[in-house]
Amino acid sequence: MTGRNQTVISEFLLLGLPIESEQQDMFYALFLAMYLTTVLGNLLIIILIRLDSYLHTPMYSFLSNLSFSDICFSSVTIPKLLQNMQSQDLSISYAGCLTQMYFFLFFANLDSFLLVTMAYDRYVAICFPLHYSTIMSTKLCLSLVVLSWVLTTFHAMLHTLLMARLCFCADNVIPHFFCDVSALLKLSCSDTRVNELVIFFIGGIIVIIPFLLIILSYARIVFSVLKFPSGGGICKAFSTCGSHLSVVSLLYGTVIGLYFCPSANNSPVKEIAMAVMYTVVTPMLNPFIYSLRNRDMKGALGRVFCRNKILFSL
Ligand SMILES: *[C@@H]1O[C@H](CO)[C@@H](O)[C@H](O)[C@H]1NC(C)=O
Repeated sequence: MTGRNQTVISEFLLLGLPIESEQQDMFYALFLAMYLTTVLGNLLIIILIRLDSYLHTPMYSFLSNLSFSDICFSSVTIPKLLQNMQSQDLSISYAGCLTQMYFFLFFANLDSFLLVTMAYDRYVAICFPLHYSTIMSTKLCLSLVVLSWVLTTFHAMLHTLLMARLCFCADNVIPHFFCDVSALLKLSCSDTRVNELVIFFIGGIIVIIPFLLIILSYARIVFSVLKFPSGGGICKAFSTCGSHLSVVSLLYGTVIGLYFCPSANNSPVKEIAMAVMYTVVTPMLNPFIYSLRNRDMKGALGRVFCRNKILFSL
């Protein structure tokens, strides 16, 4: 790299969304609305699950963890995007960029591990209903959550440290709305082969295995429901699993398409649209799909509000 103008870069420029400046206001409002929906929807779920003792079950404690992770996940990217859109200042410091990348990977992974845990939980509940409470003990639930946190810490740390090794020379313009691993790799002027290999193998394991486990869980649920058919049971299982699977495929489909398929023919606009799908849209949809169309949650909403109404009127 001798002879190259090696200025050390202290900040990056995030170009944001590929939109015209007259559309800026509309997109600002849209993303603000989606962010607020995500935060409020997920917060409502966490509060309901805390307050209502009927919801103190493994399934809802995982859901509450998922909601927490979704709030954090969308808070890693959207506030910065909104701030950049508002101030027209596109810069993000080098440290800020790596920090954003770390937390982005962290919460994206945590989401995916929690989705696996939830699929496993449903699998046990539907296929072994009599042993559910002995299998899904408090200890196992806590271990699964702790294991998710530990694995995702190491994985996010690995990618972030590998990224911190790289040099960035003249080009500091990221054509994206957050510090994305693959966008940063393209900017680097060092050898990125190790990073690419790690993304491909470790990242592949971290993405593909949860995805397969989820599909396996739901497949076994479907088989066990089909083996002992009862009119209402099939409908209920299919509507639950179908909606879960739609979120799962939206999340994994976009992630796999973005990071593991050759990106030479992906236009930047398409890449950003796919990134918006899994960074903004899935955290917003999760609470609705996993809970708000669910009878227990609606019951809890009623109970919590009625109790508070009585408290206030006293
Ligand atoms: C996450 O799950 C664990 C284990 O079930 C539970 O103890 C904890 O309260 C949950 N955390 C949140 C924020 O709901």
